[in-house]
Amino acid sequence: EKENATRDEKLKEICQLLSDNVSYYDWVGFYFANHEAKTLHLGPYVGAETDHTVIPFGKGICGQVAESNANFVVPDVKAQDNYIACSFTVKSEIVVPLFVNGVNIGQIDIDSHVLDPFTAADERFLEFVNEEVAKLF
Ligand code: SME
Repeated sequence: EKENATRDEKLKEICQLLSDNVSYYDWVGFYFANHEAKTLHLGPYVGAETDHTVIPFGKGICGQVAESNANFVVPDVKAQDNYIACSFTVKSEIVVPLFVNGVNIGQIDIDSHVLDPFTAADERFLEFVNEEVAKLF
């Protein structure tokens, strides 16, 4: 029953909905910040298992967004030098920070097997998703 689902169950359902309904969303997950340790920690996700369950601030696309507080769209991961590869099938990535009361508490991270699929519409859509997710906190 949805109304009894825990927050993590709801987040996982959101990941599943996104990956099921957008053809080029191949891995969808949330990372959450530990501001004291300056690390990101993998939360609910849908897609291939990843070794990168803890990411230091500043490292990779995710770590950079933890510090910049800004969306990061990567049309071609091969063109990034500060990038953490999770799978060789991933060609592009989008990371949108999650703000709760103005604090960047984490992010939604989406990997795609398609080259350069993300537009401004994805950014606006994922900002909206994160505004809804923020209400769970
Ligand atoms: N590619 C990310 C690491 C997380 S995986 O995509 C799940 C990065 O460079 O931060």
